[in-house]
Amino acid sequence: MNLRTTSFEDYKEKYNYSVTQPEKFWEEIAGNFQWRKPWDRVLNWNFTDPEIRWFEGAKLNITENCLDRHLETLGDKPAIIWEPNDPEEDHRVLTYRQLYDKVCQFSNVLKNNGVQKGDRVCIYMPMIPELAIAVLACARIGAIHSVVFGGFSAQSIADRIQDASCSLVITADGGFRGPKDIPLKSVIDDALVQCATVKRVIVLTRSRTPVSMLKGRDVWWEDEIRKVETKGNPVCTPEEMDAEDMLFILYTSGSTGKPKGVVHTCGGYMVYAGYTFANVFDYNPGEIYFCTADIGWITGHTYILYGPLSQGATTLMFEGVPTWPDAGRLWNIVAQYKVNILYTAPTAIRSLMGFGTGPVMGKDLSSLKKLGSVGEPINEEAWHWFDEQIGGGKCPIVDTWWQTETGGIMISPIAGVTTTKPGFATLPLPGIQPILVDENGVEIAGNGVNGNLCIKFPWPGMIRTTYGDHERCKKTYFSTYENLYFTGDGCLRDDDGYYRITGRVDDVLNVSGHRIGTAEVENAINMHSSVVESAVVGYPHDIKGQGVYAYVVCPDKHENEEVTRKDIVMTVSRIIGPIAKPDKIQFVSGLPKTRSGKIMRRILRKIAEGDTGNLGDTSTLLDPAVVEEIMTGATKLK
Ligand code: PRX
Repeated sequence: MNLRTTSFEDYKEKYNYSVTQPEKFWEEIAGNFQWRKPWDRVLNWNFTDPEIRWFEGAKLNITENCLDRHLETLGDKPAIIWEPNDPEEDHRVLTYRQLYDKVCQFSNVLKNNGVQKGDRVCIYMPMIPELAIAVLACARIGAIHSVVFGGFSAQSIADRIQDASCSLVITADGGFRGPKDIPLKSVIDDALVQCATVKRVIVLTRSRTPVSMLKGRDVWWEDEIRKVETKGNPVCTPEEMDAEDMLFILYTSGSTGKPKGVVHTCGGYMVYAGYTFANVFDYNPGEIYFCTADIGWITGHTYILYGPLSQGATTLMFEGVPTWPDAGRLWNIVAQYKVNILYTAPTAIRSLMGFGTGPVMGKDLSSLKKLGSVGEPINEEAWHWFDEQIGGGKCPIVDTWWQTETGGIMISPIAGVTTTKPGFATLPLPGIQPILVDENGVEIAGNGVNGNLCIKFPWPGMIRTTYGDHERCKKTYFSTYENLYFTGDGCLRDDDGYYRITGRVDDVLNVSGHRIGTAEVENAINMHSSVVESAVVGYPHDIKGQGVYAYVVCPDKHENEEVTRKDIVMTVSRIIGPIAKPDKIQFVSGLPKTRSGKIMRRILRKIAEGDTGNLGDTSTLLDPAVVEEIMTGATKLK
């Protein structure tokens, strides 16, 4: 079956087929990929344990699909176009052949450094082609990569390395992001003080900032490459992987304090990444595709690397940020490389909107054919600005809803096929069976309804487990409602049957499209020496979507409160990373609690949102006076 959809009729037909005969549907989709050995059974599953196996018995290597199989036809075509942070620095283009050679080379480097199939490798690198090479090299030799976003602290990295018992770390001396130099190796050094399992660190030269190199542990990327070059062996035969062998771990936040290692496996993830990329973006050979995400997040994994490369696409990778050196940066990139498909996040659109149309004017955006949005609900104003100012009113916008756990896009228009509606992710892709339920798990049928979004049938890209703790996977996703995967999102299905994601219904914030657990931030704040306790909630933020609002009980403040505020922000930065810094800190004498000691977050949320007119039922409060005090304090904070 063709991966792409030709018309809305075609979509409906495929959707029906995918629901009535899911195994046949996915088998036909999987037929578009290269397998060493076909599957014995398409799907084996239950959502109780949960146990989900796709393409059981099949053998493959995802990099053969992303590289080897394109060599003959696309060898000289660009696989990756890389735009550096500094527009004055030369850009780079890696053809499929060149990328293949480099991945083989680095695979051999990993092997020389003792990495074997099944070993976990932590990658903490800037957005440069070597990051893509490192990821693919791991996949080629069957090592499980765990990429950690550059905005996380040493402590967060250490937690992730320990959780997965990584034996090797790949990093760079430093990285550039906008006007900032990020001392990556130095952060890794701090992290590794706590990580006995790491035997080797491979360090790429990027910023050539001074770094400490420990004898016996730290080696330079370039030296290691030279060693395999002199052996004159650029080939690396890909490891034969079982469809259900782990491909990667990616940590994400949930309602508890500790991030979870979401596990994706080789076969199903490959099929799902490739299929959704080709289908949703209606990718035509030769099109230049630009996803502005970072490879440290799932969007980068699936839609900068695996999805596009599995389809022989040209993927543009950008090291910098949209507002540096000025707010016209993305538009310069689109014009320079004649980008056809642009996939970005609402937070970026909103922040660029704030600069007006000046930075867009005079930029040739006529190459754009399709636009995409991901990561958070897109407000109508941003949708229209994207549509008119960037797409010139002629590009379909695909508002793609999905999650780290889903591996790829789940609910989304198909470019050029589905009629779009601002703010709506529209309809489920073929193979995806959403269902809305009430608090008790009872299905809310029909249209024009609101509920909690669940998925009732497996799809190939779905989470298999949380690394090292299967029980946690079961508890988080499969226990809230029997026999359903629970997304954690609230959702509206309108009269046309279109889906609109309304946001998280658990204690997870979405700040600039980054997922942050309130419990995680609270734990970090509580580590500050004079903090007694804290409660963190989200509040509407014009650019970030949601901001982080912290209520903090801290009797021993500095005489200038601002000093303590900054200390707390610094503490969060050190413990989690700059991405989780609170936007607002309100000092309070106590938190509103029920008689059984539970914090009433609902009230705190309302106060943070400035919606104090109706706080709802406050009769169970232990001390109602606390609420009065917090409301007064909140007004002063604004
Ligand atoms: O709340 C939803 C929101 O982002 C969450 C998933 O975050 P993460 O795992 O970091 O993955 C982000 C990139 C796929 C979801 O539970 N979300 C994602 N896409 C959308 C969205 N909310 C509304 N509309 C979207 N298109």
